[in-house]
Amino acid sequence: MKVSASFLSSKNIPADLQKLDHTDVDYIHVDVMDGKFVSNKTMPFKEMKNIYKYTSKRLEVHLMVENPKVYIPLYAELNTEYIIIHVEIEQDLEECLKMIRNYSIKAGLAIKPNTPVSCLVPYLPFIDSILVMSVEPGKGGQEFIEESEEKIHEVKKLLEEYKINAIVNVDGGVNDKTVKKCRECDIVTSGSYITSSEDFQERVTSLR
Ligand code: DX5
Ligand code: ZN
Repeated sequence: MKVSASFLSSKNIPADLQKLDHTDVDYIHVDVMDGKFVSNKTMPFKEMKNIYKYTSKRLEVHLMVENPKVYIPLYAELNTEYIIIHVEIEQDLEECLKMIRNYSIKAGLAIKPNTPVSCLVPYLPFIDSILVMSVEPGKGGQEFIEESEEKIHEVKKLLEEYKINAIVNVDGGVNDKTVKKCRECDIVTSGSYITSSEDFQERVTSLR
């Protein structure tokens, strides 16, 4: 299982990114919030882009924003493997997903805990990843929602049924206990569990 590390709850982002760079973590998960789709707001791109100074890991960008078209060209400039947008936004999702792929970046769709899996169906041909939110998006350090295990299973079944070759990722409240409910995932994303520790590598290893 691959592990992606979120630095959303980090107190010292440059130092933590450098520490993560020295682990075998697979991706850095970049949470982007616009203060509209979720009430919190992350730093502007002109600051966020400095990530490259501290890590050479590939990035997975999670856009918790209402209008991804503004952010996609910006984050496409970085060392980005995935850009993930939310299925709940009122935008032409197909167009946004195609826009991501036009930058030769893998396109992902994130789904909130209360959104039915069936909402993903129209977009399956345009996605490389599904991010199952196991907390309400908006902040780090929340508790894993137990029903997410079933949601992950439903998403896996849907991909099989439609013969779609996309990976499944989970995000929110993932630690060494809750990861046991995420065994069907290809990637697990974890924030505070990793960055609250002294030993990042030990935490990453415990999730694999
Ligand atoms: C929640 C974010 C998550 C979060 C994960 O809105 O999308 O990526 O930072 O952090 P933990 O693992 O602390 O829930
Ligand atoms: Zn996230």
